[in-house]
Amino acid sequence: MPQKFTVTPWEVKGELDYEKLIKQFGTKLLDEKILNRLKKHTGKLHFMLRRKIFFSHRDFDWILDKYEEGEKFVLYTGRGPSGHTHIGHLVPWVFTKWLQDKFDTELYFQLTDDEKFLVKPLSLKETTNYAMDNILDIIAMGFKPKKTHIIVNTLHIDKLYRIALKVSKHLTFSTVKAVFGFKNSSNIGIIFFPSMQIAPCFLPSEEKGHNVPVLIPAAIDQDPYWRPARDVAPKLGYYKPAQIHSKFIPGLGKEGKMSASKPETAIFTTDKPEDIRRKILNAFTGGRETAELQRKYGGNPDVCSVYKYYYFFFEEDDKKLKEIYEDCKSGRLLCGECKLRLIKKVEKFLEEHQKRRKKAKQKVDKFLIE
Ligand code: TYM
Repeated sequence: MPQKFTVTPWEVKGELDYEKLIKQFGTKLLDEKILNRLKKHTGKLHFMLRRKIFFSHRDFDWILDKYEEGEKFVLYTGRGPSGHTHIGHLVPWVFTKWLQDKFDTELYFQLTDDEKFLVKPLSLKETTNYAMDNILDIIAMGFKPKKTHIIVNTLHIDKLYRIALKVSKHLTFSTVKAVFGFKNSSNIGIIFFPSMQIAPCFLPSEEKGHNVPVLIPAAIDQDPYWRPARDVAPKLGYYKPAQIHSKFIPGLGKEGKMSASKPETAIFTTDKPEDIRRKILNAFTGGRETAELQRKYGGNPDVCSVYKYYYFFFEEDDKKLKEIYEDCKSGRLLCGECKLRLIKKVEKFLEEHQKRRKKAKQKVDKFLIE
């Protein structure tokens, strides 16, 4: 049967079937057994785990083995700076911060201004500028300054180049072509690039002078990088990096993940209250044609982009989320009211985030890798 969806680092489209993705990518479901084990270390689970927003992993059990044996792991995540940060990007970052707090870990955070220069119609100056802008969002998330090391690829190439070279020697063109879909017409920069995104998997081991377990929290679109990373790791004498994968927060339209390429259906951290209002008021919902019909037959939260916003990000309280779900289904809560409540929540969140972004300008140096 033909595949109805595509997930690559540069394209996510169609109706996603996450169970199929697990099979296709060869990852494992984050099941109750492993969640219960995690709970022993963290206490109450993060809502993104309770709701299976983080749903898949590779070797997360091994990360816990190592931790229990007294070997601390390091976190690695990143951002491709092709524009302003949107709420979708914050999904893995909120969870990464929770892991950093619970396990008191170091975090390596890569900004791939080189990648975005190579794949988008943007100048290198623009992508590096976006990197510096996105760093304000990263700092605003509240990561620990002493334990967070931000790498901007073009500025900190000295940290990565030697590792990237070693990685690249073990990756053939036919492998990266098969994994990433490169063509003969692809520029040679992007063909080398996977070794730049793989390099931070091994940087902590290089810096510490001994092998360090690395856990990568990210949405599942980044997974193609980690398969070759894991193949190469033992050849270079490193541990294989482990992953924990999230689903995608959808856009405010009818389908598709939240994406900067559809700005009217994405909420950016730099949006003003009037943008937030307009975008949410225009959002696709599971409502009926008229208020009367909705009161009578109820709405459909399962297909509603507004409900998904509460679910993925803006309502951490399971009880309150359930109330929204049931009130929608029963027709007690109409779309207008539900949207207004969400607007309030998003405005409040972004007002605070934007204040922290402003303050972050003075702190950038403290976060850049030394
Ligand atoms: P980028 O900038 O496309 O995405 C940054 C992070 O956000 C995740 N993401 C989403 N998560 C939930 N819902 C969405 N709608 C959504 N859209 C994006 C991505 O999975 C990613 O975790 N090449 C990378 C940058 C990078 C990186 C890394 C990412 C370099 N090293 C290590 C993760 C881990 C990129 O362009 O990400």
